[in-house]
Amino acid sequence: MDKSKTRIQLPGTIFFIFGASGDLTSRKLVPALYNLFLDGWMPLNFAIIGMGRSAYTDEKYRDLLLEDINSYSRNGKADERWTSFSKHLYYQISDIGNDDSYQEQVRRINNFKETWGEEPSVIYYLAVAPRFFGTIAEKLAKHQLTANTEKTRVVIEKPFGHDFESAKALNQLLSTVFTEQQIYRIDHYLGKETVQNILAFRFANSILEPIWNRNYIDHVEISVTEQLGVEGRGGYYEEAGALRDMVQNHIFQLLCLVAMEPPVSFQADEVRNRKVDVLHAMRKFKPEDVAKNAVRGQYGSGWIEGKQVKGYREEENVNPESNTETFAALKLFIDNWRWHGVPFYLRTGKRMHQTASTITIQFKDVPHMIFPTETIEGWQQNRLIISIQPEMSIRLQMQAKRPGLSMTLNPIDLIFDYRGAYEGQSPEAYETLLLDTMIGDQTLFMRADQVEAAWDLLMPVLNSWSAKKSLNFPNYSADSWGPELAEALIAKDGFHWFTLPLKNKK
Ligand code: BG6
Repeated sequence: MDKSKTRIQLPGTIFFIFGASGDLTSRKLVPALYNLFLDGWMPLNFAIIGMGRSAYTDEKYRDLLLEDINSYSRNGKADERWTSFSKHLYYQISDIGNDDSYQEQVRRINNFKETWGEEPSVIYYLAVAPRFFGTIAEKLAKHQLTANTEKTRVVIEKPFGHDFESAKALNQLLSTVFTEQQIYRIDHYLGKETVQNILAFRFANSILEPIWNRNYIDHVEISVTEQLGVEGRGGYYEEAGALRDMVQNHIFQLLCLVAMEPPVSFQADEVRNRKVDVLHAMRKFKPEDVAKNAVRGQYGSGWIEGKQVKGYREEENVNPESNTETFAALKLFIDNWRWHGVPFYLRTGKRMHQTASTITIQFKDVPHMIFPTETIEGWQQNRLIISIQPEMSIRLQMQAKRPGLSMTLNPIDLIFDYRGAYEGQSPEAYETLLLDTMIGDQTLFMRADQVEAAWDLLMPVLNSWSAKKSLNFPNYSADSWGPELAEALIAKDGFHWFTLPLKNKK
């Protein structure tokens, strides 16, 4: 269906959410569906069925979801429209391993089909731990629940695999049950407004393409830092670490959008083909390069905005001698004509000084300086800064003459600020992604080969870090910019990590 999303009338749709009372369902999925309903995007006929083991009635489940909406919806507390929305919500007591639960799904689908007088689209949302993915897939297949490949879809949350081999095995298993067109692998970064805008910015403006290459670009930085720690997710994070949690998915996706070749059309597979080309062109880490081009860190205790915070090893469900990294920085190269020799620096970390996701494209310096030294104040090569969050902006840093009788140059920013340019709120990432799932548009979802290529690239670093324990963890304190070696990684090439002067809320 058309990506322009001009208020198409969607067919009747049933959502089965496995993991009905999980955090994701409460904080993201149901508020997103409610906001789509408020904005008039939901189909006329729809049903959202939460599946879980707790013995809730529909009424009880609706009450619980109302609390979630009141706490987490971007539109604030629910209003009178909640009553109409809540009529579409149901709860099904179910056990993932039990055939009866799937028979009950068959029965419910048939009921809606009869009541609505149409063949519904059915979306199975796997908001459960990855160890359940296989069982659910097999049971859905056994009960013929996904046999209609046009009308049924499955949405899979991250983490998609733990490493290259497990991701490949999961893809293989899924491919025995679903076609690739039925599988929606979520990377919520791709649903963010500012991330989608990278495509618009690059490919809807003619002035950028001629300079978007090694002839004009000096280097690229992608930095995704968070003030938050692991926030009660120690059990999960111990097995993940920063590379698996953020780099393999979100940061590599940002990198692909910055570095991809122009697609021929906006068709899902065309865009995804160009993105996977970037992953294939990325230079593989040799084991001996890991120490040179990859830095890991783990946060110690400290103070953030006046509050004392624990070090990672003191967090709940974390091994007091943990070797898990909460910070990672990498230097990468893309070996193709466009990017040959241009370093890409990536970094991410928890408990950092600032919460900010920023892509900085630094252009080469002027070839010949005509201005005398005394006219230049804080000379800065041109930079394009795409700020994804919390500030949503694109800035172009230029040099300008300061007003006055003398010739004095200093850097200024040309700023496109979303909040200033457009009225109203932006939809949340999950609203975009859930709508795309209903429409059947896979552009913003990860394809099997992308996921595997991303894992493949990281395996030498993951293997080297797990084989060799870090001797100096914790090596950065909360509220800092990460380990010193991460500064050195970029400083030895003559650059530094760029940060926007922001006020933090998170
Ligand atoms: C998730 C990670 O995928 O992304 C979290 O598991 C991280 O650890 C989160 O905090 C960051 O997302 P956002 O949208 O807050 O930048």
